[in-house]
Amino acid sequence: MPGSRLYRELMQPPTFVTARGALYDGDALLLLPDLVDRSLDLVILDAPEGRAGQEVLEAVISDTPRLLKPTGSLFAFGASETMAELWVKHRSRFSQGAWLVWHHGRGSGRGKNWVRSYETILHLQRDEFALRSGSSVTTDVLAIPRVSGAERMHSPSQKPLALLRTLIGVSTRPGDLVFDPFAGSGTTLLASEQLERSWIGCEIDGDSRAFIEGRFRRGGRIQATPYKSLSAR
Ligand SMILES: C[S@@+](CC[C@H](N)C(=O)[O-])C[C@H]1O[C@@H](n2cnc3c(N)ncnc32)[C@H](O)[C@@H]1O
Repeated sequence: MPGSRLYRELMQPPTFVTARGALYDGDALLLLPDLVDRSLDLVILDAPEGRAGQEVLEAVISDTPRLLKPTGSLFAFGASETMAELWVKHRSRFSQGAWLVWHHGRGSGRGKNWVRSYETILHLQRDEFALRSGSSVTTDVLAIPRVSGAERMHSPSQKPLALLRTLIGVSTRPGDLVFDPFAGSGTTLLASEQLERSWIGCEIDGDSRAFIEGRFRRGGRIQATPYKSLSAR
């Protein structure tokens, strides 16, 4: 696979590989030391909510400047409050940041306070110009509905393919390497594959990995001899 030269011998075989990427099983924090300095073009971070998720998110962000190419960048998803904390803590290690709003249009809750209908996406950049020239997105509010209907649903945190295709499409080029340590339903990985980007994914939960594998299998994208093709580099 195109990205395989970019990482060292990993501790374990991937769950599966495709022509462009590999999904790993386990704790992303154990995978990080195996990733080569300045090898990644894009990191997508959508960590679980709560204290444990926050800790693991912090750990990955701390290591990201080492991993990103000088032209690389990072998108982190979350509530504005969480993203504000990250921004204050980490902005000095990036050259600039942009605040995007993913307006999914469907709030939860009903009653005496504002119903939140968006998620914040923090775009931390190493370079001044993080978007591909000529990219079609010009504004920082992305109005894309939540996953429903035809796009099979794994969990409420599943991001729509259209959203990830937009983020990956405007910030990388074909052949670039995208890393998602909290793959969940695998939306980042599938969007990368479809857009001809290389990718590395990691997911600690077995049901989620099975869901991702199913998504790729339905598209006929999984290679028959997974580990050999990775280690023969
Ligand atoms: C918010 S979900 C990601 C959703 C994903 N963006 C999507 O579109 O489906 C976070 C995922 O991170 C996984 N996770 C939590 N801690 C992890 C860790 N230390 N290493 C790898 N995966 C982890 C969880 O199992 C969960 O599936």
